[in-house]
Amino acid sequence: MVNTEYDKSEKFRLLDEVGFRDYFKAETWEEFNCQFFDGLAPKYDRLNEILSLGQHQRIKRTAIRHLRIQPGAKLLDVCTGSGDTAIMMARAYPDTHVIGVDVSEKMLEIARERANGIKNVEFRVANAMRLPFEDVSFDRVLISFGLRNLEDLRAGLLEMKRVTRSGGFVSNLDLGRPPAGFLTWVHQVYFRKFIPWLGKTFFHRGEFNSFGYLPNSGKYFPSQAGLVGIFQELGFSSVCRYDFMLGAISQQVGKVI
Ligand SMILES: C[S@@+](CC[C@H](N)C(=O)[O-])C[C@H]1O[C@@H](n2cnc3c(N)ncnc32)[C@H](O)[C@@H]1O
Repeated sequence: MVNTEYDKSEKFRLLDEVGFRDYFKAETWEEFNCQFFDGLAPKYDRLNEILSLGQHQRIKRTAIRHLRIQPGAKLLDVCTGSGDTAIMMARAYPDTHVIGVDVSEKMLEIARERANGIKNVEFRVANAMRLPFEDVSFDRVLISFGLRNLEDLRAGLLEMKRVTRSGGFVSNLDLGRPPAGFLTWVHQVYFRKFIPWLGKTFFHRGEFNSFGYLPNSGKYFPSQAGLVGIFQELGFSSVCRYDFMLGAISQQVGKVI
């Protein structure tokens, strides 16, 4: 029996540590996320450019290529946000059907605007922890920079697995941890010191500082090696890991059997 309880109580501490409760009034983890991302939506794409040093689009395109998407495939992008990955897949594979889901209506408004005119992609409000789809409905199910936001990442991955057909793939792309040594130090200074300062000083004056949230959320998020172990523990086979930017970003792909 897989333990899907993960470290929920630890994770709830994050709400106080990053000052979520001073800005948002919510009862559940999803509501906090929803309010946070609704507020961040107008700035989200610019934030992504800054945090990834302009690299995130290129990395997402490569991550999609790892999924060996076939013509006619049904694809699901969980925590789609402003629709980056969903739109990229719809453009690159016009004979597939892509659905992007997210809890934040404001993020989805941006996704729909960006996807205007692209026929094979649609966006729906849905909670990743309770996906509104039948079992084995999709060929590929992806989550990009979203898993860390779920209340229980194991339960979230199992839900993605449930809706994936046998022989299909589930993929996670998120921040990773570079190997120990000088790189770790650079990574820590960049994320823990420079990025929060940048957010407070230029980007989020007087608002919740989302640049401070990201490094803190990493405290409760496994490393890329840990995630490979979790994929295996949850019953995925042939689990592959791909590192980008010297391990600062990492993808894990597991096959559903
Ligand atoms: C950091 S953004 C990632 C967006 C996009 N995938 C990307 O790569 O840019 C995380 C997204 O997860 C969404 N989210 C958080 N919790 C969720 C949940 N339980 N169900 C669905 N979406 C959720 C947020 O609203 C937000 O849009």
